[in-house]
Amino acid sequence: MANTTPKPSNSTTIPASPAAPLASKITKLEQHAGSSTISVHGGEARCKPSDAITDSIVCASTYTFEDTDTIIRFIENNEQREEYGRYGNPNERVVERKLAALDGAEDAVIYSSGMSAMVGLLMAKLSAGDEIVFFDQCYHRSREFCFKHLSRFGVVTHQVPTGDYAAMEAAINERTKLLVSESPTNPHLTCIDMEQFVALGKSCEVETLIDATLATPFNVRPLQFGVDYVLHSATKYLGGHNDLLAGVISGSKEQLESVRNLRGIMGGINSPHNMYLLQRGLKTFALRMQRHNENGQAIAEFLEEHPRIDRVYYPGLPSHPTHAIAKQTMQGFGGLITFLVKDADWRETASIVDRVKLARIGPSLGGVESLIEQPLVMSYFQQTPENRKKFGIPDNMIRLACGIENTQDLIDDLQQALER
Ligand SMILES: Cc1ncc(COP(=O)(O)O)c(C=O)c1O
Repeated sequence: MANTTPKPSNSTTIPASPAAPLASKITKLEQHAGSSTISVHGGEARCKPSDAITDSIVCASTYTFEDTDTIIRFIENNEQREEYGRYGNPNERVVERKLAALDGAEDAVIYSSGMSAMVGLLMAKLSAGDEIVFFDQCYHRSREFCFKHLSRFGVVTHQVPTGDYAAMEAAINERTKLLVSESPTNPHLTCIDMEQFVALGKSCEVETLIDATLATPFNVRPLQFGVDYVLHSATKYLGGHNDLLAGVISGSKEQLESVRNLRGIMGGINSPHNMYLLQRGLKTFALRMQRHNENGQAIAEFLEEHPRIDRVYYPGLPSHPTHAIAKQTMQGFGGLITFLVKDADWRETASIVDRVKLARIGPSLGGVESLIEQPLVMSYFQQTPENRKKFGIPDNMIRLACGIENTQDLIDDLQQALER
């Protein structure tokens, strides 16, 4: 027992991801490894309890200390171990290390959903009087949080047309703290020129955030371009099996410290079971992405040639307005395709969706099962026609999230659904 009275602890600091025992070999390996190797081994200890090849699910809401001296050492030396379930759990830690390795990041903080990650980051980084600037094709719930809720705490949000860097620059002032974009955007698949976005942030001394949910670290790693924070809804491709919700923010340890601390207070964390599912899903992440990319490209090309299709939005097609940026910055273009049916009203468009047999009708994307939806009757049903027009959501729009089924089966199914 220490013979001096213990100093009060800095109780706002929550330990960062503890290094896994014997993880040093893996960390060295990760620096040179490919994405499939990182998906399988990244962030994991080489030797695990019971000599098991898989991680155990650690079901504990609290963690115990051998004696008082151990507690004092833990606090005074900021030792890396678990303390209480709201600050993290071993299954979260391993997933955080794996995701950080995939993103090429120093650290990653995991949340219970993509939106929880977005709210956590914004609440940690912004104070009353601060301002943020969004590109207007960002996920509508992120913008809704800013306009309806952050505004109540005195944070001002500006929204400018996606890809209009001059408008973004004009919206920046001395109170601006964060520039936010998605790349590619949903459902128009607009890709951001990361170099220009980062250059703007750096020249104005404003931090930058990219929501790369649709790209994933397989197709683009925004941190390599100098972006400060990357957000993924892990509910989508990272989990990949339409069976869990999670979200993650990657970046530097220093910049994420306040984010991790606030998460420890908010408690938007994940159960060990959920994290085991995500870790398991991530093992095949790179393999799945190859097939999502192949399906996306082949089906976009098929649709573009089809006489009943008016327009296809897919960044892998030369007809897409940001194809050149996509080709320069991305390894592949993902599984999401948006298209417009020629001369069709909403009913005729809906009848095509209803005739599709393989893809299931539903929101979300990035899972092994293909999903299809008509944005008008899914995410935008409650919006006024004027608002839908403003968001670029016509009645004849269909969004297809290609899964990993065989390409030809998906094409044959769409072919029959498009027959009159
Ligand atoms: C681009 C993007 N970002 C964030 C989110 C939010 O993720 P979650 O549903 O996991 O909260 C979504 C959800 O659809 C999304 O499409």
